[in-house]
Amino acid sequence: MSSVRLRLDGSPVELEAASSTSLLRALRDAGHTKAQGACEQGECGSCLVRIDGVVQNSCLVPATICEDANVETVASLLNQDLADAFARHGAVQCGFCTPGFVVAAEAALASAESLTYDTVRERLAGNICRCTGYHGIIEAVLEVSQRRREANQ
Ligand code: FES
Ligand code: FES
Repeated sequence: MSSVRLRLDGSPVELEAASSTSLLRALRDAGHTKAQGACEQGECGSCLVRIDGVVQNSCLVPATICEDANVETVASLLNQDLADAFARHGAVQCGFCTPGFVVAAEAALASAESLTYDTVRERLAGNICRCTGYHGIIEAVLEVSQRRREANQ
């Protein structure tokens, strides 16, 4: 086991990890549960976090390569307008997938791309919702995209 020091949502944390321990597992074992997990095999997207500005499945990233990294979870990436839109569109059912969807959605919204139903669907393609709530999630992201565009005009 070795110690890994990094910043998590702006605060310094120290994790214990073996060479085979994923960032997701190291975070959750240390009680940092904002990174959600499900499959732990890179299949569902629920564990998405941003590491030094790059969105990645934290279950596939070895914790030991994250020394000094800046790791951001849903806790620091979710903006209130997206939270409100998710609520309005019924985009959260059991909520298990929601942290990953939020990380992917905020990344899509931050891109310069003009989002359509199909492009949002593509940008969220790595995220699985077992409650089959995709339509509400996509509608919520599109609404926020339009509102942010109008606010910037
Ligand atoms: S827990 Fe990482 S992709 Fe499913
Ligand atoms: S809201 Fe239940 S898995 Fe997506």
